[in-house]
Amino acid sequence: MSPDAATLVDPRVAAIRPFLDLLRSPARGTPLRLDNGALVSEGGERYPIEESGVALFVESTISVDAKVQQAHYDRIADAYVTNLGYPHTREYTAYLDQALLTQLPATGLGDIAEICCGRGEAVELVAGRFRRAVGVDISLNMLKAARKDHQDPAIAFLQGDATRLPLADGAFDSVFMLGGIHHVNDRAALFGEIARILKPGGRFYFREPVSDFLPWLALRAIIYRISPTLDHLTERPLRYQETVPYLTGAGLTLSSWRTYGFIGFCLLMNSDVLIFNRLFRFIPGIRGITRAFTRLDDWITSRRGWTRRGLQVVGVAEKPRAAAA
Ligand SMILES: C[S@@+](CC[C@H](N)C(=O)[O-])C[C@H]1O[C@@H](n2cnc3c(N)ncnc32)[C@H](O)[C@@H]1O
Repeated sequence: MSPDAATLVDPRVAAIRPFLDLLRSPARGTPLRLDNGALVSEGGERYPIEESGVALFVESTISVDAKVQQAHYDRIADAYVTNLGYPHTREYTAYLDQALLTQLPATGLGDIAEICCGRGEAVELVAGRFRRAVGVDISLNMLKAARKDHQDPAIAFLQGDATRLPLADGAFDSVFMLGGIHHVNDRAALFGEIARILKPGGRFYFREPVSDFLPWLALRAIIYRISPTLDHLTERPLRYQETVPYLTGAGLTLSSWRTYGFIGFCLLMNSDVLIFNRLFRFIPGIRGITRAFTRLDDWITSRRGWTRRGLQVVGVAEKPRAAAA
């Protein structure tokens, strides 16, 4: 087989080629081309593509926080995926998914990016609604789990730092982050990158832990320190008053902020932290019980004065269209 034919059938190349226009070198901000199973920038940096088709953009210059998170998630990836598979966790997540889905437009989502994608949660949730999807995460073990579950050639996965995205300017119609913002301490850099990669008129959808209600703030201060699956130095739930100026500073306009999850979330959604919670899967009718708790939580967090007191925020921010000249 000639070298050219070999390149044509190289699955690593086939996985990345349809996404070339959406990528750029994180070091120089310049376009990339394929060369012998790697992505190469004009300046000569080479970014290898791993056997599973994940392109590796992790350089020596990634942020200190990203390095900590990379080691952390590479270590806990298997446990993380297992914890999300319990029936009560799935049932409660379905409720939160619905809250996010109600924010999406009826039309298609275009080209989407999921930042801190882990196992590709958003990509899965909006399957069939996008043209192409790119997932970026710092942990290769999380990305391998994502690639295993999502073989669709319209989805690419990249290993990269959310504060130095290997993605092109103004290339994406929609950006998603589900449980990723609170892992990135440098919110100015993160939101700056999201604004940069969005097209004018593009939307940023997020769902994150939020601690605007004092009891949750206090509880999390403890939990983040004692849980082996959380890292209190690099993980920080959102606060409304802190987040809005960072979004605005990046040029994004917040259009929706509503919280969900209360006592039911506390009990049923922390199987990584509350070991006894894992035993709930053996309770007969646990799915029905969970649904009852979602209704209770929904009732509480939709009361007047309580819409910002939940444990998870679902938000939407928009990159304004350029003002007409
Ligand atoms: C709580 S998980 C959520 C992932 C996804 N929503 C899921 O459920 O699979 C957070 C993810 O953020 C990633 N992460 C943390 N810091 C990051 C950074 N600076 N750049 C890219 N990914 C990061 C971690 O590797 C992890 O996969």
